[in-house]
Amino acid sequence: MRPDAGPAPVAAVSVTVRAGLETYEVRIGAGLLGRLGELCDRPATQALVVSDENVASWYLERVMAGLEAAGMRSAAMVLPPGEQTKSPVVLAALYDRLYDLGAGRHDTVVALGGGVIGDLAGYAAATFQRGLRLVQAPTTLLAMVDAAVGGKVAVDFREGKNYLGTFYQPALVVEDPDALATLPEREVHGGWAEIVKHGLLAGGVTLALTEAGVADKARPDPRLLEADVRFKAAVVGRDPRETTGVRAMLNFGHTVGHAIEVAGGFARYSHGEAVGLGLRAALWLSERLTGLDAAAAGRGQRLLSAAGLPERLTGVAAADVARLIGRDKKAAAGAARFVLLEEVGRPATGVVVPPELQSEVVAWLIGR
Ligand code: NAD
Ligand code: GLY
Repeated sequence: MRPDAGPAPVAAVSVTVRAGLETYEVRIGAGLLGRLGELCDRPATQALVVSDENVASWYLERVMAGLEAAGMRSAAMVLPPGEQTKSPVVLAALYDRLYDLGAGRHDTVVALGGGVIGDLAGYAAATFQRGLRLVQAPTTLLAMVDAAVGGKVAVDFREGKNYLGTFYQPALVVEDPDALATLPEREVHGGWAEIVKHGLLAGGVTLALTEAGVADKARPDPRLLEADVRFKAAVVGRDPRETTGVRAMLNFGHTVGHAIEVAGGFARYSHGEAVGLGLRAALWLSERLTGLDAAAAGRGQRLLSAAGLPERLTGVAAADVARLIGRDKKAAAGAARFVLLEEVGRPATGVVVPPELQSEVVAWLIGR
């Protein structure tokens, strides 16, 4: 290579998300975190990189170096890892930092981390001065296939998961699968919950790639990552702000999942593990309420087991889970609304599940 030729180009796939009036790219490619500065392409502006301690120890230096090399002034805010960071108190600290930096609407917030950092930094970017530029740089499998794409940003409030939030599309999403090499096994499994969710909702090639890929969970086939991002982008494109019922399908498994996550104090189960149990519950309910055949439900349950997700609900009180299901954001007039499956690839949204069946499915999750 000639000395002045610069770094070799990185092979990257680009998926376009069209969400209402906004269009942006999800760039997927090994090595892209080091190129984030050049991909941002905003010289003479400043960037605040928001990350957590675990992620920062691996990736912050290379991201900051890339931003500086691209002519962007950059600062970092490194936060404790975990769902507790997705709080109004930490959000206020983030506003303070942006204020002290004199950040303005031409500046960029880079969310470097998993879904916690993406949701929190995204909400700060959405609301500070009515909107700074947001770049999502997801480092967990869950955030790559789901959280970083589609513009849902939020923090938790009291017992309400994602209770303070909005829709705010990023300007760019940069996904570097190399970052998955340092992801703890438990987090890999959690990411598979959203992959299985997408597979069951999409059916077809996406489900086939999911079933083929689950044997090598820690190194997901790039075609699977791309298929998941394309599926999410297509759903978001049809219903960017979850107003027509189409995007609501992505809440499959989340009504019970969120209740389990909160009932466990965000410590007993990770988000992905709780969603895995929520998917088991949704498959069980789908057999009883929306006509999903037993073979398809069994296929979903086996896939969740192969993904290393919990088989049973333990360590949380059934009564707490049942109570929290009614507090889900999607509840209308006190009745929880569920996303269930009629068949693989055919979801039904807004299904009212009678309270006795809600309690029964929680008992089934404990006793199975
Ligand atoms: P997370 O952000 O808490 O990350 C999980 C753990 O992995 C953390 O300890 C983190 O420090 C560590 N980590 C992250 N990347 C790493 C890496 N490459 N190497 C080593 N360690 C790494 O959790 P998550 O599962 O990514 O996200 C869960 C959150 O995402 C929840 O709050 C959930 O509500 C939210 N979510 C949002 C959406 C959305 O559409 N906005 C979708 C799904 C989930
Ligand atoms: N994760 C659900 C959604 O983005 O709508």
